[in-house]
Amino acid sequence: MSLIKEPVVIHKGLDNVYVKESTICFIDGEASKLFYRGYSIEELADHSTYEETAFLLIYGWLPTASQLREFTGNLESHRSLEPEILQLIKEFPAHSDPMDVLRTAVSALGLFDPQPMSDDISVRVAKAVLILAKVPTIIAAFERYRNHKDPVPPKGHLSQAAEFLYMLTGNDPDPYDAHVMDVALILHAEHEMNASTFACTVTASTLADMYSIITSGIGTLRGPLHGGANEAALRTVLEVGDSSKAESYVVDALAQKKRIMGFGHRVYKTWDPRYLILKKVAGELAVRKGQTQLFDTALAIEMSARKHLEGTPIFPNVDSYSGIVFHMLGIQTDLFTPIFAMSRIAGWTAHAIEYLQANRLIRPKALYVGATGLPYTQIELRTGKLEEHRMP
Ligand SMILES: CC(C)(COP(=O)(O)OP(=O)(O)OC[C@H]1O[C@@H](n2cnc3c(N)ncnc32)[C@H](O)[C@@H]1OP(=O)(O)O)[C@@H](O)C(=O)NCCC(=O)NCCS
Repeated sequence: MSLIKEPVVIHKGLDNVYVKESTICFIDGEASKLFYRGYSIEELADHSTYEETAFLLIYGWLPTASQLREFTGNLESHRSLEPEILQLIKEFPAHSDPMDVLRTAVSALGLFDPQPMSDDISVRVAKAVLILAKVPTIIAAFERYRNHKDPVPPKGHLSQAAEFLYMLTGNDPDPYDAHVMDVALILHAEHEMNASTFACTVTASTLADMYSIITSGIGTLRGPLHGGANEAALRTVLEVGDSSKAESYVVDALAQKKRIMGFGHRVYKTWDPRYLILKKVAGELAVRKGQTQLFDTALAIEMSARKHLEGTPIFPNVDSYSGIVFHMLGIQTDLFTPIFAMSRIAGWTAHAIEYLQANRLIRPKALYVGATGLPYTQIELRTGKLEEHRMP
């Protein structure tokens, strides 16, 4: 029973609650469409680069050649890590989850900024660009340390995607691999008001600094209901192992009411356009890498699940192929969600900045259904049970 007399609607999960007007991203979940700042995801995946797309999301327009040069130059100049941050990462336990490492390291970056707080939007954007530049270096450094290797300093004059692959191995990446990573970063850069973007928006609304804003996003993305489905989808493909076993896997899973990873979406009730792009990329990469068995298994799981889920709004999503793409690029499974974060910083920043331009502190309400006016009891008279705190 509630003490509030007027009728109250509780929006559990905030489904269908709009928190702002936005010009950043439009998802048409019925028509299989996704636009960043009005440009279709297909156009961006075909013609753009991650740097250009990040600029588009953060500033609102496609950069001119000189604007892009300045932006990539900024990323390059900020990519190295302070020795103290490298030392910190080195001391993290090797068994740490890389998302926990990323969350802690991004938070620590703020300690080395003499002025982390600023009301000036352009200063906030500059700090976000600095974080965007350093995140691939943080992920790669931890990957190297936990494998008892020294980190590889950024090479310079490489794209964000190529630099990340370079810092993981110390070898110049194959240009096609770098292109595939670039496309994957574009596809993950933004997706409207999802849980982590909302977390960033809430933190921004308190006028907190950019380090706190991005740290909130990383912490929220960490949960298995948000990031993480790509890792689960890859594990399924590796577990099934062969296309001939896909049908029985899907039949058994659905009979046991298990979810097929890489299927279903809160917004898309048809094809996720990012899935269509990544599936093509995954097929091409599999041929180049000689890993067609992996791709064929993923394809057989997809076809079987599509057959058994026909007539439902459950379609393949971006995660059905992103995991195998990262795997074929030689990336460890627990780095998939950090890579998602590395890309999504562009979208998080865009939304935080957009919200701040017409800020209102986000402060929803909770409907109180507990007791009031309870007599304070002496410790020896307490029951130690919840019952006495309920409303009569
Ligand atoms: C993403 C997800 C949470 C969205 O779910 P949602 O739209 O909120 O739908 P619900 O969780 O309410 O599920 C609705 C029904 O569809 C079923 N369903 C949803 N996704 C399913 C899947 N991947 N496989 C099998 N059944 C699924 C549910 O079991 C439920 O069935 P029921 O009504 O008989 O209980 C869900 O589809 C899922 O868990 N997918 C697997 C994980 C994944 O790929 N996540 C990445 C998203 S990009």
